[in-house]
Amino acid sequence: MCGIVGYVGKKEAKPVLINGLLRLEYRGYDSAGIATIEDNHLIKVIKDKGRVNQLNENAEINSLTGTIGIGHTRWATHGKPSGVNSHPHLDNSRCFAVVHNGIIENYAELKEFLISKNYTFLSETDTEVIPNLINYYYENSSNSSLEGNEKFLKAVIDATKRLKGSYAIEVLSSLYPDCMIVVRKDSPLVIGKGENENYISSDIPAILSFTKDFYLLNDREFALITRNDIVFYNENAEKIQKEIKNITWDAGAAEKDGYDDFMLKEIYEQPKSIRETIGSRLPKDSISVIEDLALSKEYLESIKKIFIVACGTAMHAGLTAKGIIENLCEIPVEVEAASEFRYRNPIVNSRTLCIYISQSGETADTIAALKLAKSKDAKTIAITNVIGSSISREADYTLYTHAGPEIAVASTKAYTSQIVLLAILAINFAETLDINNSKVRELKKEILLLPGKIEEVLKNEQEIKEFANRIYKEKDVFFIGRGVDYTVALEGSLKLKEISYIHSEAYPSGELKHGPIALIENGITVISILTNPLLVEKSISNIQEVVTRGAKTFVVTNQELNHNFDKVIKIPETSPLISPILSVIPLQLLAYFISKAKGLDVDKPRNLAKSVTVE
Ligand code: M6R
Repeated sequence: MCGIVGYVGKKEAKPVLINGLLRLEYRGYDSAGIATIEDNHLIKVIKDKGRVNQLNENAEINSLTGTIGIGHTRWATHGKPSGVNSHPHLDNSRCFAVVHNGIIENYAELKEFLISKNYTFLSETDTEVIPNLINYYYENSSNSSLEGNEKFLKAVIDATKRLKGSYAIEVLSSLYPDCMIVVRKDSPLVIGKGENENYISSDIPAILSFTKDFYLLNDREFALITRNDIVFYNENAEKIQKEIKNITWDAGAAEKDGYDDFMLKEIYEQPKSIRETIGSRLPKDSISVIEDLALSKEYLESIKKIFIVACGTAMHAGLTAKGIIENLCEIPVEVEAASEFRYRNPIVNSRTLCIYISQSGETADTIAALKLAKSKDAKTIAITNVIGSSISREADYTLYTHAGPEIAVASTKAYTSQIVLLAILAINFAETLDINNSKVRELKKEILLLPGKIEEVLKNEQEIKEFANRIYKEKDVFFIGRGVDYTVALEGSLKLKEISYIHSEAYPSGELKHGPIALIENGITVISILTNPLLVEKSISNIQEVVTRGAKTFVVTNQELNHNFDKVIKIPETSPLISPILSVIPLQLLAYFISKAKGLDVDKPRNLAKSVTVE
């Protein structure tokens, strides 16, 4: 996690860095800091515990006038949030300043090595070894013939060769006041090219208002960046060429557009994001088209199992997709948390297809799980929202959700777009296999109707807000559902706990009687999702069981119910395979309004970050 930003140009760096950091705060907000090289060629650092806005109010910040600088917003891993643990970190000579996103797994060993060479440390972080290692290699370079920037570059290359773990790093040096060196491995970093100025960031949206031309670094590629030039090197210090990518996203897509919070904006964007996900993939009079995916009928017939691997909300999208794929393609699907999959030696081989879902495309566990499957000869498909993200560079095939930037930590539109894209993938497989043609036709028709139906669901906002205002002080909430509704219960529960800090649990309705019902007491809120007409009677019995024990009930359904539940939110009918795309929306809104009623920071909940780039 953590966000890093950099600027090399003619303007003052500080406002650019603050602007970028504010947009990267979703990656962590335990502390913030910036460093610039000033006219006297000295590095000046201002950093502290707390958010970027606090940093910007620091009286000293206006003393930074340099035109080259680096910035960092932190999600603490090694060392508690504090001024001294904040980035940027300097080496002992104060000649090198570093910001870092990732984890240096062997930092203890490196620290010991450096201490044996008389280096001292101020912080508890893993990062502080990096500027000191650079200093060490700078001072002890075996190649004394190197001159100018190349000596600086060589020291950074040598230092990073010693690092184990993940990193995106920006390095400034007072000895080379006109340039910056950056490198990445398993953590994201992009370089935006401007006119006589260049930008660096953990993601594209943070600097999209300055440029639309980007270079995407691969693992262990280095860039030496000056105001007028960006030169790329491999780890042997040989120059390499990289292609520039023009990003067509609208910079305004990363703004709040009059909404109080990104989360609310993103909930309301769902009709649009789903239209974008569908794009031209479901042409009216012919079979589905998935760009860049070429899996033959023979290959699909040879598959014995599909694994869907992901984390958090993305995994919940996978749980819904399991039902769709099994129903349409008749191939068994197993869904697993990436953090479990990667360490349990799963049975994967060339007859297994592995699908990885990640909004950010940077989740460390998901990427590691993908690499594992590749090493076992399985084909891999990545479903991601971020063009050029790390996962897209690892997978055999990458399918983009095209949901637009998702800024709020709580995932909403990415989830619904992931389900839509997985449903289109299932359709594509079934069409290739030439099976279940009428089910495929029916599902296609229903997918195309989704944007309009979501607009209908969104009209329930006021009623949902009123219910949120009734229950926001509660300590425990339960979510129940059967089949596909259970997968939505899991997602609703995750949404509620992450942004409202209310303890919540999700259970398959039929499981209640096997233990959890002991927790149901007078006044407790039970949220039920009830969309499968075949399971209505059974699900209603389960709701009655909790009502009998005094529970308040909030029911999301597409059925006509003649029962006296506390609140019933009626949603349009759709194929039961994709009903989560509609039934999740009241739960997203409920979590949102509960968080607002509690006066919490909806977009940046405590302890969380948008991109989980550490395991
Ligand atoms: O970027 P990813 O989709 O890989 O992220 C996975 C999870 O970290 C993410 O879905 C998380 O659970 C969200 N905060 C949930 O709202």
